[in-house]
Amino acid sequence: VAVVVITGASSGIGEATARLLAEKGHQLVLAARRADRLDALALALAPKTDVLVVQTDVADPAQVEALVAKAVARFGTVDVLVNNAGMGHAFPWWEETPEGIVQTLNVNVAAPMLAARAVIPLMREKGRGHIINVASVAGHIATTGLYAATKFALRGHSEALRRELAPLGIAVSVVSPGFIRTEMTEGLRMKMPGPEIVAQAIERLVRRPRREVVVPGYYRLLIWLCWTMPWLADLILARKDPQRGRSRLGRG
Ligand SMILES: NC(=O)c1ccc[n+]([C@@H]2O[C@H](COP(=O)([O-])OP(=O)(O)OC[C@H]3O[C@@H](n4cnc5c(N)ncnc54)[C@H](OP(=O)(O)O)[C@@H]3O)[C@@H](O)[C@H]2O)c1
Repeated sequence: VAVVVITGASSGIGEATARLLAEKGHQLVLAARRADRLDALALALAPKTDVLVVQTDVADPAQVEALVAKAVARFGTVDVLVNNAGMGHAFPWWEETPEGIVQTLNVNVAAPMLAARAVIPLMREKGRGHIINVASVAGHIATTGLYAATKFALRGHSEALRRELAPLGIAVSVVSPGFIRTEMTEGLRMKMPGPEIVAQAIERLVRRPRREVVVPGYYRLLIWLCWTMPWLADLILARKDPQRGRSRLGRG
């Protein structure tokens, strides 16, 4: 049984992960801005395990620090950090306000780094710990300039972090989901698996860290194709008319 901090636990992948990890008896710290959603979830999970709700805006460095401090005050430690909170982003990114661009970078890239920064000293002292970062297939196959920038960055950061922390006994894993049915993709009409499939991948990682897991697994083939045949990827993914080709991905 581990003490697990999950950011973005108020919906989608984070919520599904909280439900599954509670089933397994892990002690949970749930963070997001919508405290009402977190409270309702905590109430539902309370019969299964200990749950602490910490209303957190991860775009605010002080609140990320406070989240980890509150987790430690309640449970004495943090064994696993799941950096899941994230914002999607609609195409085209250049129509976003400067503040909106910075906010997306903060939530998707700076926040996971700040949370890692807060837990590393604890984990280092114990000589063990695990940081799980939720990136995206968009961190391999770029289609939207802002969102892809954040997920490529998070994967690059995670890769370095894995090498930096291995000597300290701290594991780093990445989960890269493809399209998953959550609030983030509610505007898309294509068929998608539910967030439980990602929750299951994260639960397996909690038991056994891995460098990176792509879910669903068939996206690995697409990633490989785009890597080996970038010209084909360009042909398929290029948008001729930014306005008509507007993606409705994300509520960021
Ligand atoms: N759905 C997909 O197709 C897909 C694919 C690849 C990767 N992902 C990644 O999976 C992760 C979870 O997304 P999801 O699909 O589950 O979408 P979601 O249902 O929209 O969940 C996003 C979560 O992030 C939280 N969040 C956003 N901004 C925050 C902030 N400033 N402070 C604290 N929490 C914040 C939200 O909580 P509050 O609004 O309550 O703060 C919410 O709990 C994200 O990192 C996303 O990029 C999703």
